[in-house]
Amino acid sequence: MEALPISSPVTEAVDVLFLGNSYYAFSIDPAVREFIRSLDKGKVGRIVNFGSAAMLNSTYKKVKAEADKAGIPMDGREFHCRGEFKGMHRGRPNEEDLAAAAAFAKSIIQ
Ligand SMILES: Cc1cc2nc3c(=O)[nH]c(=O)nc-3n(C[C@H](O)[C@H](O)[C@H](O)COP(=O)(O)O)c2cc1C
Repeated sequence: MEALPISSPVTEAVDVLFLGNSYYAFSIDPAVREFIRSLDKGKVGRIVNFGSAAMLNSTYKKVKAEADKAGIPMDGREFHCRGEFKGMHRGRPNEEDLAAAAAFAKSIIQ
């Protein structure tokens, strides 16, 4: 399945929507909130969160708060690896992170 940016509306029904997002100044991108608000709860089975916040571990609670409002279930599992930020975690996500993300995605859809 092709990865699409959140500027592409979800028009077809999907069982699992993998939603990549991160922290910017301790919050998620307003565009991610808008994207979740734009989802049709009849078309999205559940959201699986993944991200690469540099310092904080997980955007899960913030994404879930929006998903709850949209009436879309969140899978309890998520993927997180460090992302590069201001000289921290240089080169991340790296090949190892990408392999771990792929293994995580497979474990969700199998
Ligand atoms: C302007 C800015 C603010 C950020 N604020 C945070 C933050 O508050 N907490 C955190 O853990 N990471 C923060 N980060 C790090 C990003 O979440 C991290 O670099 C992430 O991998 C960026 O993914 P992207 O390159 O796909 O946007 C920030 C990054 C930027 C550019």
